[in-house]
Amino acid sequence: PTAKKGQYEITTFTTWLLKQEQAGVIDGELTIVLSSISLACKQIASLVQRAGISNLTGLQGVANIQGEDQKKLDVISNEVFSSCLRSSGRTGIIASEEEDTPVAVEESYSGNYIVVFDPLDGSSNIDAAVSTGSIFGIYKPNEECLTDLGENPTIDEVAQNCVVNVCQPGSNLLSAGYCMYSSSVILVLSVGHGVYGFTLDPLYGEFVLSHEEIKIPKSGKIYSFNEGNYALWDDKLKKYVDSLKDPGPSGKPYSARYIGSLVGDFHRTMLYGGIYGYPRDSKSKNGKLRLLYECAPMSYLAEQAGGKGSDGHQRILDIQPEQVHQRVPLYVGSTEEVEKLEKFLA
Ligand code: AHG
Ligand code: MN
Ligand code: MN
Ligand code: MN
Repeated sequence: PTAKKGQYEITTFTTWLLKQEQAGVIDGELTIVLSSISLACKQIASLVQRAGISNLTGLQGVANIQGEDQKKLDVISNEVFSSCLRSSGRTGIIASEEEDTPVAVEESYSGNYIVVFDPLDGSSNIDAAVSTGSIFGIYKPNEECLTDLGENPTIDEVAQNCVVNVCQPGSNLLSAGYCMYSSSVILVLSVGHGVYGFTLDPLYGEFVLSHEEIKIPKSGKIYSFNEGNYALWDDKLKKYVDSLKDPGPSGKPYSARYIGSLVGDFHRTMLYGGIYGYPRDSKSKNGKLRLLYECAPMSYLAEQAGGKGSDGHQRILDIQPEQVHQRVPLYVGSTEEVEKLEKFLA
């Protein structure tokens, strides 16, 4: 007789991955990449939770290519993510918020996946122990880029090859996800068949399935924008946000919730509904968030959960990136809420 499902049987991330592989949803190579990402997230979770004890708060003392002052944990999280992906042996190229240009991984001997990531999102919050996160996306290498680079390619040829491999529209994503470091550590991801959440059980260091098939409510009366920038926004956007404050017939306006960590604000939006926005403004023409490793992965997850991700006019996943650190405006969350905003901006 086959072992019947015990009432205490739990599904860990590892057993879930093996089930996806058995079902043919993903192949063994991708399983290994995702497993190495979950290891990186566990390591970063423990670093973040002990930051104040191990003197890991504060600045590294250098700026990244985005002109941001890197926190010590930005740099360390980037190293953790990179080394876990390298040792997976299945990662061909990595692109990170904290790397100036994409990095070709020599240790890759199969799979050859392209992995883009924000190793520590919301890092300005780390010294105050407010929720932070990591965001990742996984692509196949660009077919046409697999052409042989010829004998001893120059550094520039390899670099150019990497950029072309990395600059793919979000519609090409094989998988994307985030890990939120908050009151719980929750790994949320999709491999193209719905969104699943796994909560880290610190007692034995495993991610345990806690959210099956997350669906964003089709509407929600929570808006998540940094209104400190209100005066710098387009008039149409101002009218939209003003309309949310109108109590209307229900007598109840929308609630404002904004913690300044995309992962935290997005995770709440995935579960409670509503809309998260980081608009363009007169200061930053394309907004602040980066297309490749923030906007596209989050829009992919939103769509997998029945929601939408837009730059105000078009689907985020349709945007063809031109540069690795390209910024775009992001409006993401409940379908009805994003569509309402798009009407105001039309
Ligand atoms: P990161 O820490 O990876 O640079 O990302 C920070 C982003 C995002 O996490 C957050 O939503 C946004 O910056 C907050 O920006 P403001 O402080 O300008 O609102
Ligand atoms: Mn940053
Ligand atoms: Mn970020
Ligand atoms: Mn970051």
